[in-house]
Amino acid sequence: MLKSSRNCLYAILVCCMFLGMHSSAQQPTKLTLRLDQPGVTLSPVLYGLMTEEINYSYDGGIYAELIRNRSFKDNIKNPDHWSLIKDVADSSAIVLDNKHPVNQDLTECLRFNLATVGKNTGLANDGFWGIPVFASTNYQGSFYAMTDDNSAGPITISIESTDGKSTFATASITGVSRTWKKLTFNLITAASVTPTADTRFVIRPSAKGAYWFTLVSLFPPTYQNTVNGNRRDIMQLLASMNPKFLRLPGGNYLEGNMFSTRYNWKKTLGPIDERPGHQGTWGYRSSDGMGLLEYLEWCEDLKMEPLLAVFAGYTLNRDYLEAGPFLQPYVDEALEEIEYVTGDTTTKYGKQRARDGHPTPFPLHYVEVGNEDGFDMSGSYEGRFTQFYDAIRSKYPTLRIISTTGGKDFLGQRFPLTKRIPDVVDEHYYRNAFDMESDADHYDNYDRNGPKIFVGEWATREGKPTPNFNSALGDAAWMTGMERNSDIVVMSCSAPLFVNVNPGGMQWESDLIGYNTLTSYGSPSYYAQQMFSNYHGNNVVNTIGEGIPVQVQKLNHKDSLNKVTPKTYPSLFYVATRDTKTGRLYIKVVNAGDAVKEVSLDIKGVSSVKNIGKIVVMKAEKPEDTNTISEPEKITPAVLAYKGFKKTFTYSFPKYSITVLQIYTQ
Ligand code: AHR
Repeated sequence: MLKSSRNCLYAILVCCMFLGMHSSAQQPTKLTLRLDQPGVTLSPVLYGLMTEEINYSYDGGIYAELIRNRSFKDNIKNPDHWSLIKDVADSSAIVLDNKHPVNQDLTECLRFNLATVGKNTGLANDGFWGIPVFASTNYQGSFYAMTDDNSAGPITISIESTDGKSTFATASITGVSRTWKKLTFNLITAASVTPTADTRFVIRPSAKGAYWFTLVSLFPPTYQNTVNGNRRDIMQLLASMNPKFLRLPGGNYLEGNMFSTRYNWKKTLGPIDERPGHQGTWGYRSSDGMGLLEYLEWCEDLKMEPLLAVFAGYTLNRDYLEAGPFLQPYVDEALEEIEYVTGDTTTKYGKQRARDGHPTPFPLHYVEVGNEDGFDMSGSYEGRFTQFYDAIRSKYPTLRIISTTGGKDFLGQRFPLTKRIPDVVDEHYYRNAFDMESDADHYDNYDRNGPKIFVGEWATREGKPTPNFNSALGDAAWMTGMERNSDIVVMSCSAPLFVNVNPGGMQWESDLIGYNTLTSYGSPSYYAQQMFSNYHGNNVVNTIGEGIPVQVQKLNHKDSLNKVTPKTYPSLFYVATRDTKTGRLYIKVVNAGDAVKEVSLDIKGVSSVKNIGKIVVMKAEKPEDTNTISEPEKITPAVLAYKGFKKTFTYSFPKYSITVLQIYTQ
């Protein structure tokens, strides 16, 4: 009895010591906002997007093409995603054919020997997990076709159910002959159609004989009706993030697994008939329908700037070229690429861009040399970067050049590992929520000398295929740190951006936006990033926190820098910015803990505060709560009018919540 009460007393004592050291139990939480002090300028391009072909981001994703393996190059041994519909006794057959190229890029086609004419025989494509069928929709299609018989009759094209029992849209075209011809058609669905992806695309010639097809293409209406354009729903999700730049084209996708499969921008230009496509780095082939110009137009559509990453002579299989004459063609290629983006129509590549349909040059301020060259253990990056840097600096002196080493993420170095001092270094962080939250002050004491920081890939990775609310809390905590230190962290973009949630669509877990064939949704992390990007001023407000509550480490491991992790870490994260023109003040508070936090706020340095303002809040019952394709808006921010702001006031931040208080000051 005595022994057990002693144990109990000891436990209480330890608990009190613990609380005394770390808890806010005796000290109320207070945030003092010093608007009377100068704050650093918030980078106007802090929030952007990062993209690459991963998780079916383009083909089967934002790029609206509906036919999969449209040029029959995905598998040289089999016409993947194509099938022959026929009765058992029908001797019709399909076979890959590389003896009838349309041109040097469309080298493969499918030969279809039609032995029996009728509804029971046809050539079908299953699309990217089905063809999306919506009511009253006009689909634009085309293919190259050829036959061995000049008198071949019309060809019927349709979108129908997978079992062939329902036809959603059908059209008939004529003109197929003994030579390759590009034929176009429209498929229009009725107003009564119920959306479905349990569908297939079917071609049915009306006469027996041999037929050849390639570059079979079908597009739904695209964002802003751009030809060869993007999926509307996904573009709308991106638009509402208000991103300022797009880092393109990767990521590993830039590097390629080997030199021959690097992102070779020149082969992604012109009509899709002249794009050979290439093997991507994430296990599947890219049609390159999303080519360099499409990336740039995507930027233009969403009023963001490209952040162009150029191939820097290093590939994922660790093949590389030392600096010197053998690297020079790649340096030249990068200069030409910059000219394609920015040159006027008197320049060679500016002229080519005009021929491709866009005479006006695109704005460009940042060029990144390579991707994650810290993985190049050969030490060749220093020389490679120097060669690229000198060439870019000399031809484009105002461009800001980004190096992919020199941040603290690789080798714990802050100073550049390169001879030339880059304007910006790119750092990447993929972590769990604990690592993000316990390191949210990462940049607070960073060296302010030397290059600026681009956090070019980062994400809290909890939840799949898309991150859950705990990730959103980790992301939001991390963003408070980036925003507070935006004098040095000038740009950031999380990654990966997209995932096709259909079976087999994901190569990388925890991706910001998920979609299937018919619909798309934002993860809680998507909404957290949307909140941060849409609600901020132009100046960071010096904010002093007192009595910040702590939470106990949920996972027992070291962080990605192999740092000894603390047992407790803050559960409340904050940053404030103001708009110096309008007087609007944005206070962001992240409560990652499991209890409501009452915080007293003291706004110093203003003559008055409007009582009425706005609150944007996103919260969850449990950290594991999430959005899914079937429950896409379980967690979204709510925007509320709020009456009760004063120069000093108290606010209760819900458990597991991300809040923006928008206050009008004078
Ligand atoms: O975002 C996924 C991958 O992570 C990127 O391609 C690469 O740069 C990083 O390692």
